[in-house]
Amino acid sequence: MKESMILVDPDTVKKWDANYAAGSDKKYPNLDLVRLEKWFFKSQPGLLLEYAFGCGENLIHLLECGYTIKAIDASLGAKQLVERKLQRRPELQSHVTLTHLPVGATVLPYPDAQFDYVNCLSVLSLLGSKERAEYLLKEFLRVMKPGAKIIVDINGPQSDFARYAKSIGDNVYETREPGDTVAHRSYCPPDARTFAELIRPYFNIDDVGYSAHKYLHSEIQEFIICAHKE
Ligand SMILES: C[S@@+](CC[C@H](N)C(=O)[O-])C[C@H]1O[C@@H](n2cnc3c(N)ncnc32)[C@H](O)[C@@H]1O
Repeated sequence: MKESMILVDPDTVKKWDANYAAGSDKKYPNLDLVRLEKWFFKSQPGLLLEYAFGCGENLIHLLECGYTIKAIDASLGAKQLVERKLQRRPELQSHVTLTHLPVGATVLPYPDAQFDYVNCLSVLSLLGSKERAEYLLKEFLRVMKPGAKIIVDINGPQSDFARYAKSIGDNVYETREPGDTVAHRSYCPPDARTFAELIRPYFNIDDVGYSAHKYLHSEIQEFIICAHKE
């Protein structure tokens, strides 16, 4: 099995499980998604794949917008956190299925041509290499219907993921935080154009943009692409 065909590696999952066990949470959805859902997805009903749902705030926002959602994340801790959040929102529960993507998974557990939308935010860098990011994009393409839309972002070199990390070449950065037994890799392309080159072989690109901010203790630079399957 080629390493680039493994969607989830064990060290990444350990780190995220530890984050959620330590109480990591967010209380609001991604602000770019709030806009792009209206501007690009346009709140038209359909089946949406929420990839790497994390603490679930984007997921809850998208449910409130009216989508039926299949949501997947590599962390069991994330799944348990979001299950607790959804218990407090019984009106949303019947519109969502949460799935845990296990370590070593090589395919998404969905049939071909099922989804009308894919939302994939703040995770593509964490795949750790260009090849693994490409492999995930191919899986998205497989499970999307013709004409289906995708919003996908990736961290840039000005984001915390790269700025405080060691560059090891090929736009890959390594971080090792206190307590980490292994270094974690992030793939951060140098600019939006390079990100577009990654996406273009698979999707028709509708828009290439970016989002950046720096305040308090966080610096974010994300390249964002809106695209659709032919
Ligand atoms: C930074 S959080 C982003 C969560 C959410 N998408 C958001 O924008 O708030 C990253 C999430 O990706 C999950 N994750 C990391 N690697 C993954 C992979 N290869 N496949 C699926 N989920 C992954 C982690 O468990 C974590 O919940």
